[in-house]
This record gives sequence, structure tokens and C-alpha cells, in this order.
Amino acid sequence: MAPSLKTKVASIPLETCVYNASGPRTGSAQALSRISASKAGAVLAKSATLASQTGNPLPRTWHHDAEESHASMNSEGLPNLGIEYYIKTETIDEAISDTGKPYFVSISGKNTDDNMKMLDMIYEKIKTGEARIAGVELNLACPNIIGKPIIAYDFEQMDSVLKSICAMPMFTEAKIPLGVKMPPYFDGPHYDRAAAVLNKYSDVVKYVASINTIGNCLAIDTVAEMPAIRSKGGFAGLSGRAVKYTALANVKKMRELLVDDIDVVGVGGVYTGEDAFEMILCGASAVQVGTCHWNEGPKCFDRICKELEDLMAKKGYSSIEDFKGKLKEWSKEGVAKSREVKAAKKKLAKDATATKASSGPSAQDQMLTALLILVIAVLLADKFDVISI
Ligand code: DHB
Repeated sequence: MAPSLKTKVASIPLETCVYNASGPRTGSAQALSRISASKAGAVLAKSATLASQTGNPLPRTWHHDAEESHASMNSEGLPNLGIEYYIKTETIDEAISDTGKPYFVSISGKNTDDNMKMLDMIYEKIKTGEARIAGVELNLACPNIIGKPIIAYDFEQMDSVLKSICAMPMFTEAKIPLGVKMPPYFDGPHYDRAAAVLNKYSDVVKYVASINTIGNCLAIDTVAEMPAIRSKGGFAGLSGRAVKYTALANVKKMRELLVDDIDVVGVGGVYTGEDAFEMILCGASAVQVGTCHWNEGPKCFDRICKELEDLMAKKGYSSIEDFKGKLKEWSKEGVAKSREVKAAKKKLAKDATATKASSGPSAQDQMLTALLILVIAVLLADKFDVISI
């Protein structure tokens, strides 16, 4: 039997533990419908503001142009269709159709007042019969709004925002699950302080998604000798393979420091089933995919799920609970085992090459040779007039 990728985030069951990050390819119902049609376990809409907005001037995105791009950047300035759009019944109908997949709304208001207004609108929608909004992800980590620092880098402000929001009846009474999108941290005391704030609100905050982009990075166009991105002097959020290591550290630390009531969702640099496996080993209950989805499109969810399933099968795991949060301590035995497996793989590859070399030409090579002989024969026959028609 194939391993199961089932999981729960904020007590909500997901058929697979891989789904999209809020960001690229999540701004319209049509884009979201492509995610729900894939193996993604849930659908998360683009971060919304109270009113629709067009965002920062173009160019506002950049991709490293190596064959296997290691990094992307964006400074989009939250272009989105406004909260009303993302909670409309028609939008949700198209986004998840009859898949039954959990639909999450993401909000990133200009201030707490805007966030609370959006939450009021979401709650009103739920109360008047829209049962398919499974939860809300509050973005405390957007680095690209000119003049607005990242909220979750200011722990007093983060505490006061969460205090106001977590007291709202939609959370205290209706128990709608709240998730929080976090920025990356890089220093021990910062992890401690962020986790201490989140733990204060564990009655309401049911998951954290770590990490958002690494804020305020800079890509240079060396031909033009200028920033690759136009707004904010080129300063933008970094994503892609380059951020995976920061994301893993954040997932591991958050899992260690947060109370068990708060799930950790790993996000940042996930491109393969092995990346997802690493996130889960570090304690993630699920994995969101952003930049890979941007580059590859929604078929990435099918591929990553299949790769994760294959890896689990190879390791003899039947569910993600078998290895979730079970990253081992470094040990000499571990190094020896790893060396052994790598050497065996190398030998297998070497043997395969040797077998290929000694087994003579392949059937395809033989066919090509036969075809070549035939062509030469026809040409020669023509030249010497052997065949007369
Ligand atoms: C944008 C970037 C983010 O990292 C985010 O979380 C939300 C919005 C943006 O620039 O649009």
C-alpha cells in the first residue's frame, strides 16, 4: 500500500501534507482552481487587503537565470483583488469546486484596524452560510510595503496586534482557526521572543507558517549596473532554493519552542519530495510551496507528493507521523550509515555503467546501424546503376 500523506493543520484534515503558499499564482479563482485540481492538500488564497490594489511598479520580480534557478525575488507590494473577492461564494465555488479541500484566506492589512475589518467581513460570510472558509492566515511578515516594517520583527507590536485580533468573537466563540505567517529569524533570542508571544495566544493561534521571504535582499543587473527590481531601491523578498536552510532552521526552532497546540507549517525553498521530508523531520505538520509553484505551475504538487511517497516507501514509513519531528541528534553511527548508503549507490551506478559498456550496442543502436547500412546501399546502388527501374 502506498504511504499516506494525510495530515492535520489546526485540527483540519488534509488529504496530503503539501499545498500552496500564499503568493504567486494565488490571486484569482482560476489560479486557485488549478491548485485544487492537483494533489495539493489545501488551497490558500493570496494575501488580501481591504480594497483591491495594483501593487508596486514593474519590474517587481526577479529570477536567477541559472538552469536550476537558486533564487527568486519579489517586491510586489501586495497586488490583490481585495478581501471581498477572496471570500465571495462564486470565488470559492471556482477555487475548490467540489473537491472538499480546505480553503484558507490570507490577510495582510495595512494596519490592525484593516485586519480587524477584514476579519469581521470573513466572520459575517461564515455566519451567513459560507462554511467552506476553513481558516485564516494572518500575514505578519510582508517585507515589501514601503514605510511599513515587518510586524513580527517588533515583538511589542506583534503582541499588541495579536492581543486585539485574538479577542475577536470569531476566534473566542466560533473558534475559527487562525494561522500566522512568520518572517525568518536568525538569532536565538529572537526565536525565543517570537515563540513566547505566539504561545500567549495558543487558544486562538493554531498554526504558524514559517517562513515568509527573507526581506530586503538585493539583486543586481550587472549589465545595467542597477538593481533588478524597481521599487524600494531594489530591496525585495528572497525566495527559492537559497532560503530552504533558513526555513528548516526556523521550522525546527519553532517546533521546539511552541506549545503542542500550535502546528508548524514549513515553507521556504521546497522543490522536491526530499525537501518536504526534511521539513517534516524538523517538525512541520505540512509544507507550503511558493517559488517552485511560481516556476513550475500547479503540477509541482503532484510531483512533490509522488517524490515524498516514494521516499517514504523506500524508508519503510507509512504515514508522516512515523518521522514528523524525529530529526535525530548528530552521531558517528549516523555518519557511518550515511557513508555506507552513499558508497552502495555509487557502486550501483558504476556497475550499471560497466554493464552497459560490456553488453554491446543497444537495440536502438542496432536499428540505427541497420538503417545507415540500408541508406548507403541504396545510394551506392543508385550511383553504380545496380538497380534499374
Ligand atoms: C508580498 C510579499 C510577501 O512576502 C507577502 O507575504 C505578501 C505580499 C508582496 O510584495 O506582494
